Amino acid sequence: MIDIRDASKHEGKSVSVRGWVYRTRSSGKVVFSVIRDGSGIIQATTKTDSKAFKDASKVTVESSVIVKGKVRKDKRAPGGYELEVQDFQIFHLAEPFPITRDLSEEFLLDVRHLWLRSREMNAALKVRSTVFGAIHEHMRSQGYSEIQPPMFTTAACEGGSTLFEVPYFGSKVYLSQSWQLYAEAMITTIEKLYTVAPSFRAEKSRTRRHVTEFWHAEVEAAWSNMDDMIKVAEDLISNVAQKVAKENKPELEYLGRDPKELKKIKPPFERIKYEEALKRLHKKELKMEWGQDMGAEAEKKLTEGLEKPIFITHFPAESKAFYMQPDQKNPKLVLGFDLQAPNGYGELVGGSERIHDLKLLKQKIKENNISTKPYEWYLDLRKYGTVPHAGFGLGVDRLVSWLCKSDHIRDVIPFPRTINRTTP
Ligand code: 4AD
Ligand code: MG
Repeated sequence: MIDIRDASKHEGKSVSVRGWVYRTRSSGKVVFSVIRDGSGIIQATTKTDSKAFKDASKVTVESSVIVKGKVRKDKRAPGGYELEVQDFQIFHLAEPFPITRDLSEEFLLDVRHLWLRSREMNAALKVRSTVFGAIHEHMRSQGYSEIQPPMFTTAACEGGSTLFEVPYFGSKVYLSQSWQLYAEAMITTIEKLYTVAPSFRAEKSRTRRHVTEFWHAEVEAAWSNMDDMIKVAEDLISNVAQKVAKENKPELEYLGRDPKELKKIKPPFERIKYEEALKRLHKKELKMEWGQDMGAEAEKKLTEGLEKPIFITHFPAESKAFYMQPDQKNPKLVLGFDLQAPNGYGELVGGSERIHDLKLLKQKIKENNISTKPYEWYLDLRKYGTVPHAGFGLGVDRLVSWLCKSDHIRDVIPFPRTINRTTP
């Protein structure tokens, strides 16, 4: 038994492959079946004089099969090699497969459990796997420990409007929006830590970049400032892009993404202040008031044609979360940063320096009209050896979506959760 990907190593020899029938057609004299397994696809040809002809002729699309044949080089075959079938065993004869050509997006989402078999999904999921692996590998190589946050929480990190409430033995808790508040507690014992975990947002926005459940790679470090974290994020994204360019060439090509473009993703990324971003947008005739958060249209205008992501820093305090450290030079601004992907793929990273002073933090919580009760333990962290610290969160699904150049974030998530979809 071989992986289909390795067929070229066995030219002239008899091998067996097992998988599913991707396509099948017959010329009357020859049956051409394209077989796919987890590693690739290969065409299998069965001639009338073969004892396998009967089974090969009756096989349906998506049947599971075990096929034995001789590997032959053939330029016309997809992948460059084909199997001359000697034995064609149908393990399970599939019922008529509901996915045919030209079906609507909605239908494909309804049958997601079957659409996962498509080559598009197969390629995107392989890139996704590389990205997750590369994040862990890179953060660990930089001396960061992986620590897991709780998913049930009682304090909002990113504002009340996107919290999911969960009934909890007669009271209620929330699904985590971010590990940040807990990470701030853990830096006093581990100092440099990261996690890759799900985060949940009751996002009402139906955009190509929002899901209600996403994977969040988050980093937090003691004795760090905004510049330190920008550097960590830049290195992380660059390393992931290089790894994908190297390891997923066939998948990227299938998805229409040139691996050469990813090879260009190297530090440094451009850094501009919010003020400069506003100026650029005004030049492009997009009106945005000072203090407003950037919407999808602004993100698109700001990043169209860029080769690399761009950092935006020094946001107006009112547009960002309560915990961000004010800029000493201009307290109307906070030391927060966003990393915007090229061509409107959206905000990949959001991060900041955190307020470490108890008095200031209390004041900001008050100014934001937040009740201090759920944050008492968080305020404690400023009472016992507080230190400057900073961190960021990276939306991993968005990163994969941009690297794959996909039309929609859900194209790179096996079972995406959106405002109007939780099945299958
Ligand atoms: O900018 P956000 O809200 O930042 C935080 O949650 C910080 N507490 C992180 C931290 O400093 N530890 O979210 C971080 C990133 C965004 O830049 C985006 O990439 C992703 O998480 N994200 C989403 N991805 C998909 N769907 C959604 N609904 C997302 N919301 C945020
Ligand atoms: Mg953000």
